Amino acid sequence: MLVYNFDEIIDRKNSDCLKYGVLQDRWGRTDLLPLWVADMDFRTPDFIIAALRKRLEHEVLGYTVSDCRWKPAIIAWLKQQHQWEVAASEITFIPGIVRGIAFVLQAFTEIGDKVLVMNPVYHPFFLVSEHNGRQVVYHRLERKDNLYQIDFDQLDRDLEGVKVFVLSNPHNPGGRVWTLDELRRIAQLAEKHGTLVISDEIHADLTLAPYQHTPYPTVSESARQNSITFGSPSKAFNTPGIVSSYSIVPNGKIRRKFNAYLAASELDEGNMFAQLTTVEAYSHGTEWLDQMKQYIAANIDFVEQYFKENLPQIQPMRPQASYLVYLDCHGLHLSHEQLLDLFIDKAHLALDDGRKFGSAGEGFMRLNVATPRAVLQQALDQLKQAVEKLGR
Ligand SMILES: Cc1ncc(COP(=O)(O)O)c(C=O)c1O
Repeated sequence: MLVYNFDEIIDRKNSDCLKYGVLQDRWGRTDLLPLWVADMDFRTPDFIIAALRKRLEHEVLGYTVSDCRWKPAIIAWLKQQHQWEVAASEITFIPGIVRGIAFVLQAFTEIGDKVLVMNPVYHPFFLVSEHNGRQVVYHRLERKDNLYQIDFDQLDRDLEGVKVFVLSNPHNPGGRVWTLDELRRIAQLAEKHGTLVISDEIHADLTLAPYQHTPYPTVSESARQNSITFGSPSKAFNTPGIVSSYSIVPNGKIRRKFNAYLAASELDEGNMFAQLTTVEAYSHGTEWLDQMKQYIAANIDFVEQYFKENLPQIQPMRPQASYLVYLDCHGLHLSHEQLLDLFIDKAHLALDDGRKFGSAGEGFMRLNVATPRAVLQQALDQLKQAVEKLGR
């Protein structure tokens, strides 16, 4: 039985919330139901809110020292959730994972160097690379059995001369939980080409049963020695507004170089809420997370069933991790512009445009199901009516 109430509809308008706040600017209208950016419409867990409240009751918000519970909480969490043993010395604070990627590129590569990302993938991977003057190499994922797969011969060719591979582990937007074998093969190729791997594991705690997340550095000694892994409680516990994440770098030489880069600009220091939030999430979060994931899994079932019964022209890719459902809309036989018109101007929905994640996203939309089921039902009903009006 669920103790937490994920059915509660919380009005997020007028709360400086990105999901609602940019509708006019980005979609050209405000009368849209937003199911796009990857945060949740659920209440952030009560034990996190209570700890933040307690800190505020002190009423002096002066400079703070690093929370001594922070590293032990991360170590215990990674061991309990992912059977990964990490040493305290390997962990460093970073102010956000997208920024962390930029810091790695700045510390380990030069302007014009090649950075490999998958296509499709979470768009800041290539935007940050481009904006930092790096050359982006796209490895196009294959779709087999309605799942993204890696063509390793192609990856071998694509990795030629690549300095850094930014890996989404698990994958956003496809929701793939890469297997041990797939990660091992990535590590072999990275070693062969002398490519440093950034493993972004922000979605790891959102891995859904029966799948099991594998931390990249655990797959082989070469993966361990040749990687920078990023983690954060922000996706799983709905705290991205706090901005708190960390890097784990087992290789001492890489770690010293990365940490020196961070320390030079004091990028390795968080604000007073950053470490506190992580400590609370990782110390008390197991039950809440289990229940939240049950609710998400049921929402994904609901979406699959809905499309099957009412809109078989749209095929959802079932995520193995995360609350993001990638929708293959090719069966509607619309151009991408017509697809956007259908979702925005006819169905009044704001989803992520698949093209945002790379050229392979043509004909796809990304639906965020971390919302009460009634909201999801409303959104899908709006879409159904719009498709019916189109006569598709
Ligand atoms: C794969 C991935 N990495 C990073 C982020 C954002 O991380 P941060 O807010 O720490 O920059 C997201 C957010 O959706 C994501 O999906």
